[in-house]
Amino acid sequence: MAQYERFEHDVLVVGAGGAGLRAAIEASAAGVSVCVVSKSLLGKAHTVMAEGGMAAAIGNVDERDSWRVHFTDTMRGGQYLNHPRMAELHAKEAPDRVRELEAWGALFDRTREGRILQRNFGGHKYPRLAHVGDRTGLEMIRTLQDHGIHQGIDFYMEHSIFALLKDGDRITGALGYDRERGRFRLFQAKAIVLASGGIGRAFKITSNSWEYTGDGHALAYRAGAELMDMEFVQFHPTGMVWPPSVRGILVTEGVRGEGGILKNSEGKRFMFEDIPDLYVNQTADNPEEGWRYTQGDRDARRPPELLTRDHVARCIVREIREGRGSDHGGVYLDIAWIAEKLPNSVDHIKKKLPSMYHQFKELAGIDITQEPMEVGPTTHYVMGGIRVDGDSQMSTTVPGLFAAGECASGLHGANRLGGNSLSDLLVFGKRAGEYAAAFAKEHGAGAIDESQVEAEMRKALAPFERDGAADAENPFQVQYDLQDMMQSHVGIVRNEKEMAEALDHIRKFGERAAKVSCGVNREYNPAWHTALDLQNLLTVAEAVARAGLERKESRGAHFREDYPAKDAEYGRFNIVLTKGNDGNMQVKREALRETRDDLKEIIEELK
Ligand code: FUM
Repeated sequence: MAQYERFEHDVLVVGAGGAGLRAAIEASAAGVSVCVVSKSLLGKAHTVMAEGGMAAAIGNVDERDSWRVHFTDTMRGGQYLNHPRMAELHAKEAPDRVRELEAWGALFDRTREGRILQRNFGGHKYPRLAHVGDRTGLEMIRTLQDHGIHQGIDFYMEHSIFALLKDGDRITGALGYDRERGRFRLFQAKAIVLASGGIGRAFKITSNSWEYTGDGHALAYRAGAELMDMEFVQFHPTGMVWPPSVRGILVTEGVRGEGGILKNSEGKRFMFEDIPDLYVNQTADNPEEGWRYTQGDRDARRPPELLTRDHVARCIVREIREGRGSDHGGVYLDIAWIAEKLPNSVDHIKKKLPSMYHQFKELAGIDITQEPMEVGPTTHYVMGGIRVDGDSQMSTTVPGLFAAGECASGLHGANRLGGNSLSDLLVFGKRAGEYAAAFAKEHGAGAIDESQVEAEMRKALAPFERDGAADAENPFQVQYDLQDMMQSHVGIVRNEKEMAEALDHIRKFGERAAKVSCGVNREYNPAWHTALDLQNLLTVAEAVARAGLERKESRGAHFREDYPAKDAEYGRFNIVLTKGNDGNMQVKREALRETRDDLKEIIEELK
């Protein structure tokens, strides 16, 4: 039997992004012992890619804002598939979470009066995003890390978890390995919070870095949790497209929030051409009004570039497909034009968007204060994830297993509004930590089943046994082929035929993944890591394709060219995926959670 080292904690948190850190801080404050396991180094979470700000109805820039308006915007943005209780809690609690972050040392940009400054973002009725230039996620992570480290939380960096352990139904621990040395580690815990982020690496063009292979989604699914809303993958409208080596890197929505406009190769501002009914009364129909809005004019309507991400991404794809794209297959995003309006535009852009200025200068040789950027959609976020109880964030089917942030589902429905991710991480990270600590206090440690541990370790070591086999596959190649196929078959524009083909491909990739080999050395072995990640990628890829096939309509981020309209019948349920007793993925339709009457009234009144 392979050796492992054992660690015991009350609460294990998997992931050191905003949700994981906030959960760990809360659990630790409740007096239980906490450890955080991170696949990567501290500070390197996808949280930092939420650059433009965190949404919270503080009302510093427009006092008409309130939790009610934020709640309504979030539900409308999610096309009403959201978990209404989560949308309510998020809108109500986000302001306190932002102020708390400030008290812990986060340095926000300020209004002239010295209050936290808020900027415009897509789908938000009022300027709502508390921000730090275009480095908000980074500031959030820095603050949470400082706070958490001083609270005595144990951190295990560069460790991957590859199996959750159970005693009957209940979670009892997790099995992982130290990525540098390849040694197995067993983390016994009374409760586990999964906060492992998203699935962006299932696609070829993505803002996500190498860590985001759907680990939490797949671990939970294999342990008996339900996955929900997996058809909804967010393609952020603006990623870099040139040069090829940087394709997919995020270009913050903050550029459009500060007045950036989208143009096609004919110089036309194409976003004026298609305003969805849900937003028709809120969107400007002339450039002057849109500019006034970005300058904080209370009576102006927002520019069409600040419509929701699903819509903007599709309009960009339409321009490219119809031959009006930029030289390198994107469209133009222009912030330099504001020189016509602001005499100090160069300083203004550098101050508001410092990272974008450096990113384009250094990676593409473009000065964004003088010339437009080339941008196109990039896989950024998954709305789908582990199905949880809205208050506690505990999995609906696995006691002791909690999920927060991107790997949980519910808050965002069919489409997330920009900036709602950072506030999601804080609100539901805190809740998951609080409830996980309470669960740990109420329950003793469950028993570790050594036969399960042994079987999981044997499975993890299988790629070493295939070294030298004539039919051995290269894990990097299988991963690349999967990403390429998902991009072309289950991307922004989908149809029945391609998604059915995708399932077929995924089955074949599964057969190839079962034959990958990774040499003989467990130390510093990225081929082994990729071989293990592949199992998770295959699970989430299948979940996206199966849920996408089941939803025969277009809604939010899920667009089907064979069913281009929204269908009221499909607005009544979420799609839920579980692992059947035969090991196959089961697809079911679950009626939406009931919206309380008082919340219904708010939506009616404000929409
Ligand atoms: O565009 C951005 O700054 C991303 C923000 C987000 O995904 O919330």
